[in-house]
Amino acid sequence: MTQTLTIALSKGRILDDTLPLLKLAGIEPTEDLEKSRKLIFPTTDPTVRLLIVRATDVPTYVEQGAADLGVAGKDVLMEYGSQGLYEPLDLKIAICKLMTAGPLNTPEPGGRLKVATKFVNVARRYYAEQGRQVELIKLYGSMELAPLVGLADKIIDVVDTGNTLRANGLEPQELIADISSRLVVNKASMKMKHARIKTLIDALAAAVEQRSAA
Ligand code: ATP
Ligand code: PRP
Repeated sequence: MTQTLTIALSKGRILDDTLPLLKLAGIEPTEDLEKSRKLIFPTTDPTVRLLIVRATDVPTYVEQGAADLGVAGKDVLMEYGSQGLYEPLDLKIAICKLMTAGPLNTPEPGGRLKVATKFVNVARRYYAEQGRQVELIKLYGSMELAPLVGLADKIIDVVDTGNTLRANGLEPQELIADISSRLVVNKASMKMKHARIKTLIDALAAAVEQRSAA
């Protein structure tokens, strides 16, 4: 019996960067995902379908088995806590850094530091390892605004070119982790559909190699 595979992706840079890799692995959606409002898409491989979910929801779909596989940023996986998932392949896409950032040339205030971020679990671990007392403020976006309006002293966010920080008078400070997107796999699927998933991982690994050699 042919085993089906469901792959969870998010719109935007993960979709843009994953589709060429899937194509090299012989999987192409049969319609334009960015233009459609649908959330489930068939592909040229009748046994493979794609789901479109929010980037932060990919680990949930995969851990719960609603998708066999997914693609998620390491930042999202660090925040989610990925012990319930396998993470067999670094796709080397959506590369950035998870960093602390704060106002240019501004010394740290005395007392308890206020840090705004959507990565509160990562932040809690990071400052605990340093034995630093901080107050964490959970935000869902536009983190760069927080220090400008006195909501926080610093932020923790992903940084690529640094343009967003610069445009808001902030500077990157401490590196927390180098980030790229990873293929994640549901643990039960990895057992039940092992050969099928292993073949896909190998094909994607070859696609990643081919892309980095180009
Ligand atoms: P959502 O839209 O659901 O809030 P998001 O904004 O984090 O999620 P994307 O912007 O598509 O979703 O980012 C997906 C992943 O790409 C992130 O988890 C991160 O790993 C990486 N990423 C985010 N910003 C950048 C960037 N400027 N350059 C390179 N990679 C990035
Ligand atoms: C991400 C991130 C930063 C920015 C960093 O935002 O949240 O704001 O990229 O990239 P840079 O260092 O090259 O400026 P994104 O562009 O994904 O927009 P979003 O806030 O809608 O996720």
